[in-house]
Amino acid sequence: MCGIVGYLGPQDAVPILLEGLARLEHRGYDSAGLAVLTDAGAVRVAKRAGRVRDLAAGLPKRFAGHLGIGHTRWATHGPATDANAHPHTDASGRVAVVHNGILDNAATLRARLAERGVPLTSDTDTEVLAHLVAAATADTLEEKVRQALGQVEGTWGLAVLHADHPGEIVVACNGSPLILGVGNGEMYVASDLAALVRHTTRVVMLEDGELATVTADGFTTSTGKGAQEIDVDPDSYEAGDHESFMRKEISEQPSAAESVLRGRLDERFGTTHLGGLNLDARESRAVRRVKILGCGSSYYVGQMGAGLIEELARVPADAEPASEFRYRNPIIELDTLYVAVSQSGETVDTLLAVQEIRRKGGRVIGLVNVVGSAIARACDGGIYLHAGPEVAVASTKALTNMFLGFALLALQLGRVRDLSVADGRRLVAALEQLPGKMKEVLDTEPQIAEIARELSRAESLFFVGRVRGYPVAREGAQKFKEITYRHAEAYPTSELKHGPLALIAPEVPTVAIVPADELTERNIGALHEIAARGGPLVVVTHPEVDLTGLDVRRIDVPRSEVELDPVLLTIPLQLLAYHAAQELGLDIDKPRNLAKSVTVE
Ligand code: M6R
Repeated sequence: MCGIVGYLGPQDAVPILLEGLARLEHRGYDSAGLAVLTDAGAVRVAKRAGRVRDLAAGLPKRFAGHLGIGHTRWATHGPATDANAHPHTDASGRVAVVHNGILDNAATLRARLAERGVPLTSDTDTEVLAHLVAAATADTLEEKVRQALGQVEGTWGLAVLHADHPGEIVVACNGSPLILGVGNGEMYVASDLAALVRHTTRVVMLEDGELATVTADGFTTSTGKGAQEIDVDPDSYEAGDHESFMRKEISEQPSAAESVLRGRLDERFGTTHLGGLNLDARESRAVRRVKILGCGSSYYVGQMGAGLIEELARVPADAEPASEFRYRNPIIELDTLYVAVSQSGETVDTLLAVQEIRRKGGRVIGLVNVVGSAIARACDGGIYLHAGPEVAVASTKALTNMFLGFALLALQLGRVRDLSVADGRRLVAALEQLPGKMKEVLDTEPQIAEIARELSRAESLFFVGRVRGYPVAREGAQKFKEITYRHAEAYPTSELKHGPLALIAPEVPTVAIVPADELTERNIGALHEIAARGGPLVVVTHPEVDLTGLDVRRIDVPRSEVELDPVLLTIPLQLLAYHAAQELGLDIDKPRNLAKSVTVE
């Protein structure tokens, strides 16, 4: 959701900025733009609604400079038009600004500017920043930007260039990431490492409230912070031989799972080592309740995690969408452990929930994939997910590792309570076997692809499951609708006859999660009810489940320990969504209207 790039150095900035923007496309956007400071000292801007490739194709002649900023915009204030695309400039055209985030008091500031006769040329909140920087009276550009930011409320990652201050870009961060990349006699700016890692692995991740002045030779940050070397493989940001990032990331799940488990399993005591939690055994025992907060699929995995924690630790646990939680003036209990779960670590609803809990004195741990991200930094401790960069909007390997992160946490909470060492060892052994079993699921892809092609013809589908299987069904429906644009609705299987059964018909298939567990017989009963009404069935199940007498398309996954089954049952649903979307010829990595990181409320 919105991306920023910037460059200063001896090379022409334009191709570097365009390449950087292309690498940020996965964040989701509907327009793109560039501003450069020409060698003659003028600010030139090119921007338009549409793709980065459209911007590149339509650039004016001799559009070049050794200093520039670029942006991909995901519309919030005003539609996706050329005028609303960033960069935004002041009335004189000497200041250009790109901005991620939301300025909450933009309407007031726009009205004030209009009263002063300042011509506003867009519907955006960002435009006010350009006018405020232009009107600032300070001597340096950094101080001008600071003065402007003193008048706005909200969140920002931003970059500013000014014709009166050639040779520098000023950047600032507050609730939206901004990273500097240190090159050799050149500097880069980006809102995401994906745009930097091909150029440099020496970076500075700005803290909230921090500003920096960047020149070709280096940078100064308002906190005096220096650069750090990051351990990242630039190839992990490429799709390589895979036809899409989602396909690649699905296939990476066994190795991602190995990464999140590595060094954290204790076979002897049947428990886990999670140093980053900052929670000793006494504090863990004092936890009376666990509350999990996340958005979208991270919330659904949070529901799986709540189930695991209740089963293994016998501590009441539930999950709630972070986007709802903070708006209901939540009661924060000091003996509740709050868990924020996020792949990107940027989701603003989750970040604001974390801040609200901590403001009220609650303890929050994070299950986060992106190291050093805003949510990771805002928490008291946590478990990094080590899934590697996830580029596709539809999350897969990060969700798998979230589940495993919850399993590690549940095991630890369980083992300081009543979970026996034997049960602990049983689960540790099962966790060690999971990556191999994930490979077995992936090996059934051709059969799943065939079923997916049939499902792609349906306009509307149900996904159903019970207890451990219900969040699996919710996640399956989410994945299907995100990338196929088909209506896919999840229900607890037990709820079908309380309403949705009315919709079951030959043209409405149901994907049912039927593991071999204490509910198998009841689940099979529901399958018969669906079949009796002519509803086509796809059943994701275990080999020993007997479906004799039912006409179903069956997908078998290997069994694990019953508590860990949800993660293996989820993988075929990713493949179903993927192959259905492929059959429909859709742009799988860039689903319409969606963004990888949802940085606005
Ligand atoms: O980065 P996060 O895990 O905080 O993102 C939360 C959701 O926006 C995300 O899971 C979304 O639902 C995905 N597109 C799911 O595939």
